[in-house]
Amino acid sequence: MAHSAAAGSGEWWRSGVIYQVYPRSFRDSGGDGMGDLKGITLGLAKLKELGVDAVWLSPFYRSPQKDAGYDVSDYRDVDPLFGTLADFDQMLEAAHQLGLRVMIDLVPNHSSDQHEWFRKALAAKPGSPERDYYHFKDGRGQDGELPPNNWVSMFGGPAWTRVEDGQWYCHLFDSSQPDLNWANTVVQEEFEDILRFWLDRGVDGFRVDQPHAMAKATGLPDHPYVEEAGAGFIEGREAPPMWFQDEVHEIFRRWRKILDSYPGDRAMCGEAYVLPLSEMAKWVRPDEFHQTFNFRFLDAGWELAPLKAAIDESFESFGAVGAPSTWVLNNHDVIRSVSRFGGDYGRTTASDGIGPENPQPDNELGLAKARAAALFMLALPGAAYVYQGEELGLPEHTTISPEHRQDPTFFRTGGKRVGRDGCRVPLPWIQGGESNGFSTGSPWLPQPDSYAELARASQEAKLDSTLNLYKKALALRAKLALGSGSFAWTATDGPLAFNNSGVQVIHNFLDTPLPLPAGDVLIRSTAGEGDIAPNETVWIR
Ligand code: GLC
Repeated sequence: MAHSAAAGSGEWWRSGVIYQVYPRSFRDSGGDGMGDLKGITLGLAKLKELGVDAVWLSPFYRSPQKDAGYDVSDYRDVDPLFGTLADFDQMLEAAHQLGLRVMIDLVPNHSSDQHEWFRKALAAKPGSPERDYYHFKDGRGQDGELPPNNWVSMFGGPAWTRVEDGQWYCHLFDSSQPDLNWANTVVQEEFEDILRFWLDRGVDGFRVDQPHAMAKATGLPDHPYVEEAGAGFIEGREAPPMWFQDEVHEIFRRWRKILDSYPGDRAMCGEAYVLPLSEMAKWVRPDEFHQTFNFRFLDAGWELAPLKAAIDESFESFGAVGAPSTWVLNNHDVIRSVSRFGGDYGRTTASDGIGPENPQPDNELGLAKARAAALFMLALPGAAYVYQGEELGLPEHTTISPEHRQDPTFFRTGGKRVGRDGCRVPLPWIQGGESNGFSTGSPWLPQPDSYAELARASQEAKLDSTLNLYKKALALRAKLALGSGSFAWTATDGPLAFNNSGVQVIHNFLDTPLPLPAGDVLIRSTAGEGDIAPNETVWIR
């Protein structure tokens, strides 16, 4: 079975490599210990050098920062923590001058409780048009003292909070993130206007947060299997009333039309956590999202059978609707691949993190696997995502102490789930000082000791560093057009190997070395020579 991601057109998003910038932790230009937009502008040249095509910025909007900016209080302004709209415009212009596209994160499922809409809703009466922007309901029980239904929050605890007049509002995440009512056309229009606001400024597209949560079943009925699934869903069972309701697709069809009405090749990527992928594929039909994150691939871990199955399912499902597959190993919500592959941490997307009390990962083994996984991923046709610091081989920070914790998951579960702070630690740029060149001040989250020698500048000077591995792989990927190449398995029984446009990509899943086939070795994930070592990936032509 051969698959091709090529569309024969200039649709960059079919094969592009997109680098996720987490603004809080990329680079601080102001010395307050918090990354900012000017810091991003300063760092862009390094991303160009790395060889990516686009950047995606996690939220930098005005926000009380209860969920690291995924709680937006003004969708049309920059939070003073990160700078100003003028700083944004400068960053965008600098990126474009370098030939980098910029996608921004849009958070439409919920706003902050400090958003003007929510404040007006609170001040207004039950049943008012203002309350209808959100999901306000009366409670159950004699005096309405029980939540309107059995939904629980993704971050732990109930998905409902009661307000002074006795009504409850729904929040699938933190109580500071009330869910918007997407059945309300005024909400729909507000967001279409927000899209235009940023498209007019020149952004190349959007990463859309939690799109599968936006439409809710009429009447907000109970989650039919909440005891088994908690806040989530179980693959193969009916969709719970808060996830992937059919009505949601109309919204994105309208958004797609808006994007298409702008010049240039603007794109949107949905964080649609929908499985199996044959269901997710409905989100990337030709008139909806351009891409979605491939959570099947991310969740597969680094094991032959689930990985192979994930790749097959990806080509089949996305191919069936003419969409590119995306590939992703890391983001700001999951344990960094170096540490995830260096231990047994189960499902990656549970946002549970690794804390000081958990078994600690073997980061040396994990790094070998993470480097090999990256080489494997970057040779697959389709679009690929790289999360900041992944190119440095950063491990998860697993010993953050409670007083530094910021993730609402930590607080809503009384510390039982440590949350996602460990993958959000500021980047090391130049070895030395409190934050290895990230900031002249004290970083908002402390770095672990191991980050010093992983600083970007030190890695630039080391031939076999992870940074240089990524640079070389990205340059080869571009030169050989692997992102728009064709794919066919060549071995699946110990080694996992495929051919993309004449390049043999082999990963050794065995615990014994594998003879190196004839041909030119283009790149390999270790500094070794000869046989392919266990956990190694090699590209040969
Ligand atoms: C997405 C974001 C995550 C955030 C959540 C709620 O999953 O990636 O960081 O907490 O949505 O907005």
